[in-house]
Amino acid sequence: MDITFRLNGEVVTADTTATRTLLDWLRENRGLTGTKEGCNEGDCGACTVMVTDDQGARALNACILFMPQLAGKSIRTVEGIAAPDGTLHPAQQAMIDHHGSQCGFCTPGFVVSMATAHLNGRTDHDDQLSGNLCRCTGYAPIIRAAEATAAAEVPVWMHDAPVDVDAPFAPDSADALAAWYQAHPDGTLIAGATDVGLWVTKQFRDLGEVAFLNRCTDLQQITQTDDAIHFGSGVTMTRVLDAIAPHYPSYAAMIRRYGSVQVRNAATIGGNIANGSPIGDNPPALIALGATLHLRCGDATRDMPLQDFFLSYGKQDRAPGEFVTGVTIPKGRANHRVYKISKRFDQDISAVCGAFDLEIADGVVTTARIAFGGMAGTPMRAGAVEAGLIGQPWTVATVDAALPAFADDFQPLSDMRASAAYRLQTAQNLLRRYHADLTGQAINLHAVTA
Ligand SMILES: Cc1cc2nc3c(=O)[nH]c(=O)nc-3n(C[C@H](O)[C@H](O)[C@H](O)COP(=O)(O)OP(=O)(O)OC[C@H]3O[C@@H](n4cnc5c(N)ncnc54)[C@H](O)[C@@H]3O)c2cc1C
Ligand code: FES
Ligand code: FES
Repeated sequence: MDITFRLNGEVVTADTTATRTLLDWLRENRGLTGTKEGCNEGDCGACTVMVTDDQGARALNACILFMPQLAGKSIRTVEGIAAPDGTLHPAQQAMIDHHGSQCGFCTPGFVVSMATAHLNGRTDHDDQLSGNLCRCTGYAPIIRAAEATAAAEVPVWMHDAPVDVDAPFAPDSADALAAWYQAHPDGTLIAGATDVGLWVTKQFRDLGEVAFLNRCTDLQQITQTDDAIHFGSGVTMTRVLDAIAPHYPSYAAMIRRYGSVQVRNAATIGGNIANGSPIGDNPPALIALGATLHLRCGDATRDMPLQDFFLSYGKQDRAPGEFVTGVTIPKGRANHRVYKISKRFDQDISAVCGAFDLEIADGVVTTARIAFGGMAGTPMRAGAVEAGLIGQPWTVATVDAALPAFADDFQPLSDMRASAAYRLQTAQNLLRRYHADLTGQAINLHAVTA
């Protein structure tokens, strides 16, 4: 298929297969080898490119970006960050001035992330660069270079416009997707490709028939009423973070540690639910909020409590040809908290993710919704712990008395992220942390700064 987009200012058409990655195409078809392959799975940022469309410019990992996702967009690789006459971008000059590069392998990725953050006026450099790994320089000189770039004007050549193209592939709406999926129930849906990309780059799977969801703009809407927020399944985690932050700061703080900027710019909330992962970070947070999941098969739609969607490991309540259209959460749950525990603070998958939402009246627990990821084959509620809390005074003694019930709710596994014993004890500690949090004690004892 032919895919047309803008590359470093020039409109190009690529003849490509559906699951060719942008990284491979840049390096092998265009000789643009400045974009590096480090991990080939979205973890290191060496392949970072800037992609612009009508939602703005964002940094993405080219190694898990399929060519059809780029139709009509503008891409800037590191070769397009300097001016056509060779004038360096302020971020490039700052990296030289502040000694931000040694072996240089990570440098193109850092420069593209820095230039994109600079274009977007972002000065939260630790966050913006958390998806770029450097093995030799150390981060302090790189952060200093990012700080030095902030005051500079955005170079004119960085302002890209999308390209007006006909879609070479369907679907471009939820209706078209519903029809396609009914006709191809064994086909693979690709939203942000932050999971599916790895099936290709790491497992070398042939995906057969695929449908890309990125043109279904009707699935990318966020709608708010007085008492609820609805996220279309195609809303990226970057946009979920922005919308959640004013309502649920604790949930937003967790999303800030969900992958990296590049991953959140691609990953969708629908993909994170539909993949059924036991360690996905949204499901526990959403289940504790009592979220409603919306599904569609052909013209038929149905809603269900999200917690009922996850049947067992790898199995969800989703019929052939049925897809996730969105998820709705209530507003105003003041006691909702989410705690993510991972080996690294940034850019890591959870070992355990716990979400809590209790109602307390006159010092007594009246309702409890507690959900965990990483503790079972699916994201799951802690029913026995909840039962141990409801009707009891909200005290340390009640919390301590409820702790043994975690072993009734969960028999976690040991794996490379954590042992079963660690998981169980951590889950118990998170309930203690929740109590400390709601009773006004400081709980954020770990802060990483440059
Ligand atoms: C480097 C890296 C870091 C990550 N960090 C985290 C993390 O911190 N926390 C976390 O939870 N996850 C993390 N992930 C996993 C991944 O980013 C998320 O699960 C993501 O939300 C998946 O969304 P996607 O749009 O990329 O899904 P895709 O990869 O496009 O799809 C995932 C699955 O969902 C299906 N699907 C997608 N959309 C729909 C739909 N609307 N209806 C039905 N099925 C659908 C696809 O067919 C596929 O089976 C990370 C991934 C990477 C590569
Ligand atoms: S090569 Fe590591 S994120 Fe792409
Ligand atoms: S300069 Fe060597 S990896 Fe960063």
